[in-house]
Amino acid sequence: MAANSHGPIGVFDSGVGGLTVYKALREALPHEDFVYLGDTARLPYGAKSPETVAAYAQQAARLLMESGIKMLVVACNTASALAMPSLQTLLPALPCLGVIEPGAAETARASRTGRITVMATESTVRSGAYAAAIHRHRPDADVRMLACNLLVSLAEEGWSEGPEAEMVVKRYLRELDSGFDTLVLGCTHFPLLAPVIRSLIGPDVAIVDSATTTASTVRQFLEARSLATSKQGNGRDRFMVTDSPERFARLAHHFLRQDIAGGVELAHMSLRITPEAA
Ligand code: DGL
Repeated sequence: MAANSHGPIGVFDSGVGGLTVYKALREALPHEDFVYLGDTARLPYGAKSPETVAAYAQQAARLLMESGIKMLVVACNTASALAMPSLQTLLPALPCLGVIEPGAAETARASRTGRITVMATESTVRSGAYAAAIHRHRPDADVRMLACNLLVSLAEEGWSEGPEAEMVVKRYLRELDSGFDTLVLGCTHFPLLAPVIRSLIGPDVAIVDSATTTASTVRQFLEARSLATSKQGNGRDRFMVTDSPERFARLAHHFLRQDIAGGVELAHMSLRITPEAA
């Protein structure tokens, strides 16, 4: 695949949560075109096996390549944790970035003491990918992982503030030892809960959100490879899902605080789960 600065950027997520990453990308790269694919037929990814998530991510990447994408951003933390190596092996010509590496680099910078907690889905926690990435930047870090799957449903339900959110976040935080100075929101949905999390952990803990750090990494990545668009004016967006476009459009409002202009398309993609051999 020849590098083509005119193509859109592909953004892939298990569903609607990746819109937090899309939003940060849109703000950082106003002239770029984006094609977003949410695999709403098969979400959540957060409790699935590495083999299954890798197979889903491969299919999604191939579908997005049909739109002539110049690079792929894997917005889903779970897919970034479980599928990046197989995507890079199977599709070596497709420039591809996940959210974990930028989040880990920022975390290593932000933490003074090296005591770090990462909130993520169960599959991301099991993968060990965040701890490994943080340790590459900061070998002495003490990284604790906290699986918080229920926060995904809370955010999708629109209950990311108020007593229900506070009760559930408090229950998860009870599992932690105190003393960490940096908390990583290692899941697409968790930035919506950041105000509640902040109110419970207090002002002294740094909160790292991989959406914003990924957006600036993507900008640098495009510039370094001469892949940034030379077009001026607002870029275009296209949104595709594998099921229930209406539901996606409705939930999108919680994540973007605005409606998706131009509608959401149903993607035509085989939903088999057999992975390709890496
Ligand atoms: N997108 C997923 C992540 O960031 C959360 C939702 C899911 O489990 O599919 O890990």
